[in-house]
Amino acid sequence: MTSPHQFPTGFVWGAATSAYQIEGSPLADGAGPSNWHRFSHTPGRTERDATGDRACDHYRRYADDVALLRDMGLGAYRFSIAWSRIFPDGHGRLNTKGLDFYRRLLDCLADAGIEPFVTLHHWDLPAALDDRGGWAHRDMAGWFGDYAHQLFRAFNGRVRHWVTLNEPWVIVQEGYVAGTHPPGRRSMSLARQAAHNLLRGHGLAVQAFRADGGEGRIGLVVNLEPKYAASERPEDLAAMRRLHAWMNRLYLDPVFLGRYPDELGEIDGWTGEAFPAADFRLIREPIDFLGINYYSRSVVRDAPGLAPFGAERVLQAQAPHTALGWEVFAEGLKSCLLWVKRRYGDLPLYITENGAAFDDEPPTGGRLADPLRVDYLRRHLLAAHAAIAEGVDLRGYFAWSLLDNFEWAFGYDKRFGLIHVDYATQARTLKDSAHFYRRVVESHGAELWR
Ligand code: FCB
Repeated sequence: MTSPHQFPTGFVWGAATSAYQIEGSPLADGAGPSNWHRFSHTPGRTERDATGDRACDHYRRYADDVALLRDMGLGAYRFSIAWSRIFPDGHGRLNTKGLDFYRRLLDCLADAGIEPFVTLHHWDLPAALDDRGGWAHRDMAGWFGDYAHQLFRAFNGRVRHWVTLNEPWVIVQEGYVAGTHPPGRRSMSLARQAAHNLLRGHGLAVQAFRADGGEGRIGLVVNLEPKYAASERPEDLAAMRRLHAWMNRLYLDPVFLGRYPDELGEIDGWTGEAFPAADFRLIREPIDFLGINYYSRSVVRDAPGLAPFGAERVLQAQAPHTALGWEVFAEGLKSCLLWVKRRYGDLPLYITENGAAFDDEPPTGGRLADPLRVDYLRRHLLAAHAAIAEGVDLRGYFAWSLLDNFEWAFGYDKRFGLIHVDYATQARTLKDSAHFYRRVVESHGAELWR
């Protein structure tokens, strides 16, 4: 660190997006439909039946968006690849025009001196694979491994940071437990299969990367949310441990320790044949870094009979919340980072997403004041800095998100961008938070204490 009020030399400053949330043109140039394309076109599945048909039109405006990243002084950009552009049928037939789009984007980033962090799977799956049960199908792991291998071959040397999966917890929780994301199922036994196959797919992708002699590094991105018990009652403490195992340990325990948390056995429906030991050897394939997405915490209490977890959230009415009702709780970011280091060891970490949706007023005269987002960023960056000061090997921070975008089932009303998007004209306007973030990046953090 150059000064106690700065971030370490080489700290990576970036912003993040994902394919279906920003690209638009979902069927262009030979792409197949994705699960999200189909789901959002099914009436009643998303807020106001919003779809990703146009989104931020990034598929056509990517060069302008890269220019915005450069103007903000960012050194890195985290984005994802749409599997259905590369393999329109899920596997088998390769669509080289899909690869060409990402090649153009990578060229543009290289010209701007911006380091790509590429996620292979950020939730949008070829619809053809969704038809076969999505991640609940055991062969998904192999199909994902093949897809990963193609990308490593195509972009070896050009991409030095790869992420296998984004937030497998959300894929399983929303897709197979709550049913609010595709494939819209509510079955804990399918959820258990899906979680396991995601982990196997992750392991196969890491193996393919090593076998291909991939240059650079590969890691996984999980979302962590510290759990607090609403009281010291043993039942509430047990509820807290159960949800902590379900959300924070479900993927990390197998990846780093080679087993599932025992507490999962307390969840209704988490039963079935033991998984083969060979699966865990695959899942434990060493990774080079871990990405953590952090947004909020939750306070929970025991709720007997409330399937499948026997627990419920307790609203912290007096605390500040975002437009999605997520409590603003920056200390939780520091505690997550310290917890990961303590439990899983000292590997390089990145904050791969952090940000907030607020009900911004539309821009006027080229300006949009979003003081709540500025405050959110400041608090969380200070918490990240405090974790570094306590010895966490944190290598970088990516704001979620570069642009307002398609916020999944919430559609377009919930805006997370540092940059406002007028969806009618596609005009982009830097919010105050974008200017603030630029000053943070320029000053290597010093701006946080000003
Ligand atoms: C995360 C997702 C990201 C975005 C933010 C708000 O769970 O990874 O795509 O939806 O939440």
